[in-house]
Amino acid sequence: MKYLEGKNVLITGARKGIGRGIAIKLAEHGANVGINDIVEDEIINKNLSIIEKNGVKASFHKGDVSTITGINSVFDSFINSHKQIDVLVNNAIFPDQQCSFFETDETYWDRMMNLSLKGYFFASQRAAHEMVNNGNDGRIICLSSVHSYVAMPNWTAYGTAKMALRRMVKGIAADLSGKNITANCIAPGAISNRLPEDNSIDGAPHNAENFKNFVPAEKGGLPSDIANAVLYLSSELGQYVNGETLLVDGGMIASRKIHD
Ligand SMILES: NC(=O)c1ccc[n+]([C@@H]2O[C@H](COP(=O)([O-])OP(=O)(O)OC[C@H]3O[C@@H](n4cnc5c(N)ncnc54)[C@H](O)[C@@H]3O)[C@@H](O)[C@H]2O)c1
Repeated sequence: MKYLEGKNVLITGARKGIGRGIAIKLAEHGANVGINDIVEDEIINKNLSIIEKNGVKASFHKGDVSTITGINSVFDSFINSHKQIDVLVNNAIFPDQQCSFFETDETYWDRMMNLSLKGYFFASQRAAHEMVNNGNDGRIICLSSVHSYVAMPNWTAYGTAKMALRRMVKGIAADLSGKNITANCIAPGAISNRLPEDNSIDGAPHNAENFKNFVPAEKGGLPSDIANAVLYLSSELGQYVNGETLLVDGGMIASRKIHD
């Protein structure tokens, strides 16, 4: 059964990793998919052709979703080609997510918050605007992290942004009461984001040996694990889940001390 037939989905930061996996998975379920990224290269074109093989529309919307100007230009381009947005997945992240406490300067802090918090908020606001003005239901999904539950050294700025997202979706859920729009987070554990050489969703997994002592699943996760959770929250299956965070971490946090 296809759960997202004819729905229009925008995924930020979807050139590789989890975002790319979500794009392919939702296309397999009938969604027309717009992928955003700050990078445009031949990998984007390959992703578009993989998506199109499902008989759905695929489009690329280049832009920096850490600024409101960038967000608006991505949305203008997406709405121009898809007419409406049914699902927004806020997923983009830059590679240097770890930064020691004393090396975290104003530039790094602002870069983290601008992309992972401000960007996710204003993209959600623009998506909700489109949904309300067009009169359609909608789903907003933000990628949080296990780092929002536990503190590990050198992840303070990232973890702070990711924890704030969990509060943010509660606020959005409340603010959009009666609009048939849900807002939720997914908090992944350690997910391999290596690009596969073929058309698969998943690339090479992490070495399972490294997870034996701290993840009950005794292995790392894959983009398809997160994409399945996005499918649940963005389809009718998850229609009554709102303002929540779904941990998809193989039990990592369940088996640790939680500090909130
Ligand atoms: N991989 C993991 O183990 C893991 C764990 C927990 C949470 N997450 C979260 O899942 C999401 C995806 O992670 P991933 O590991 O697949 O990332 P990734 O690094 O594989 O891909 C991120 C993509 O975002 C793009 N990007 C960076 N800055 C951008 C910007 N300003 N505007 C638009 N695009 C931009 C990059 O070019 C890249 O293609 C992130 O929000 C991340 O924090 C990942």
